[in-house]
Amino acid sequence: MTEDSLGKPITLAFDVYGTLIDTHGVVVALEKHVKDKAPDFSRTWREKQLEYSYRRGLMQNYENFARCTSDALDYTSSYFKVFLSENDKQELLDAYKVLPAFDDVKEGLERAKEYGFRMFAFSNGSADAVETLLKHAGIRDYFLGVVSVDEIKSFKPNPGVYCHFLRRAEASGSDAWLISSNPFDVIGALSAGLRAAWIKRLPEALFDPWGIKPTLTVKSLLDLAGQIDLVHQNR
Ligand code: LAC
Repeated sequence: MTEDSLGKPITLAFDVYGTLIDTHGVVVALEKHVKDKAPDFSRTWREKQLEYSYRRGLMQNYENFARCTSDALDYTSSYFKVFLSENDKQELLDAYKVLPAFDDVKEGLERAKEYGFRMFAFSNGSADAVETLLKHAGIRDYFLGVVSVDEIKSFKPNPGVYCHFLRRAEASGSDAWLISSNPFDVIGALSAGLRAAWIKRLPEALFDPWGIKPTLTVKSLLDLAGQIDLVHQNR
């Protein structure tokens, strides 16, 4: 089992949307409505969803992540000048509740389990939404629990949500890692005193040039557990 220098087991906080679950899985459902614009529509929808979460966090005007997703869908349909009926919108928001996991996820989690890591899902999404996604993707049982920012009514990358994770998981910054494909989340966790692994699935993915580096960068979840173990062996 991988442990820190005091013999404590290592805790992993897995980001959900964009890391375990592929938000662009909604492209299939979008094609019916926006045809070949589906990939661009999906990207704008996701960017706006995150922007709304940052803004609500800063403004201290909290509404849950599903509301950010739904408001961002309204913005995106106006932006692309696509009329969506209430039924169309509901169909797309329902598709968002059962998005697929990335291909490397199940095997990557299986490997991490073999190393004895304490694994949690940690998300902007509400606990109910995350439970549904993980169950639908057949990966819920890998996690000791789901920690949602909804419990403290703010969003990543507020440092408070990472501290909340540590309290809920009964972990500390030196024995806990955030695992995320989202650079803003990696930087948020590092700034709050956790370690963080960036999952860089696409070679062209960029990390923000803030002078803050991930503790670890891996191309796939398949490499994650072994690399984290090495960091703690070489401590
Ligand atoms: C989440 C966001 C980052 O799952 O998508 O927390």
